[in-house]
Amino acid sequence: MLYLIGLGLRDEKDISLKGLEAIKACDLVYFEGYTSKLECSVSDMEKLYGKSIIIADRNLAESGMGKIISEAESKNVAFLVIGDVFSATTHISLFAEAKSCNVKVEVIHNASVLTAVGITGLELYKFGKITSIPFDNKDIVAPIDVFEMNKSNGLHTLFLLDLNPEKGDFMTAAQAAEYLIQKGIPAETDAVACAELGSKNPGVAFDKLRSLNERIATQWAGRIPQCLIIPGKLHFVEQESLERYQD
Ligand SMILES: C[S@@+](CC[C@H](N)C(=O)[O-])C[C@H]1O[C@@H](n2cnc3c(N)ncnc32)[C@H](O)[C@@H]1O
Repeated sequence: MLYLIGLGLRDEKDISLKGLEAIKACDLVYFEGYTSKLECSVSDMEKLYGKSIIIADRNLAESGMGKIISEAESKNVAFLVIGDVFSATTHISLFAEAKSCNVKVEVIHNASVLTAVGITGLELYKFGKITSIPFDNKDIVAPIDVFEMNKSNGLHTLFLLDLNPEKGDFMTAAQAAEYLIQKGIPAETDAVACAELGSKNPGVAFDKLRSLNERIATQWAGRIPQCLIIPGKLHFVEQESLERYQD
């Protein structure tokens, strides 16, 4: 059996009871820690879950998929993902491949950044296509194209930001704001920065792109992960919610 288990957004305790019970029944537990970041360490997880954890880097999760699936033919295997299993991650191929090899799969969902952004007051069903800003972005315009398309439909744009947890590199919302300004988005555009959603003290800041950049660049140092939203057409209730996050 292969269990794909979402860990939620904050620490080892965000796992669901069902997820925890599944891990307890597993012979092997993989943890995919390269697409986001929890506040806890792997040893905190090992302590609570009562299992040793194998770190699955991008290579193992993508190229080593066959190994994980063949292990799940004769053993109970858990694959842990920060946030939700299929939200802004690539694990649908692991699910599909396991199914096509007739390996039983159970998915145990959890909270995701894609729903946690609801704390801003922006209506989730008014978000358009989500886009990611990579570190190496000098010649990258795809996020701008996505934003323009969403904007023309009055929809909100969520920018997810590149990260490399193994190296401790996380793009900040201030860096994302700077990228957008450099690519020609007016500095006076309204935007919302979010940090550490799902934590005890999530950061949300609403401002013009330029001021946002100046406001959070130092204030939010070390508060990761972060993302950025440019709101589309606002309902007055959304506008009022955002105004609560002005300085
Ligand atoms: C590739 S997505 C992974 C999403 C994850 N599977 C989930 O369901 O939440 C990772 C990116 O989402 C954003 N992100 C993830 N968790 C976040 C959080 N708790 N607060 C703010 N942004 C977050 C960051 O931009 C981060 O680089």
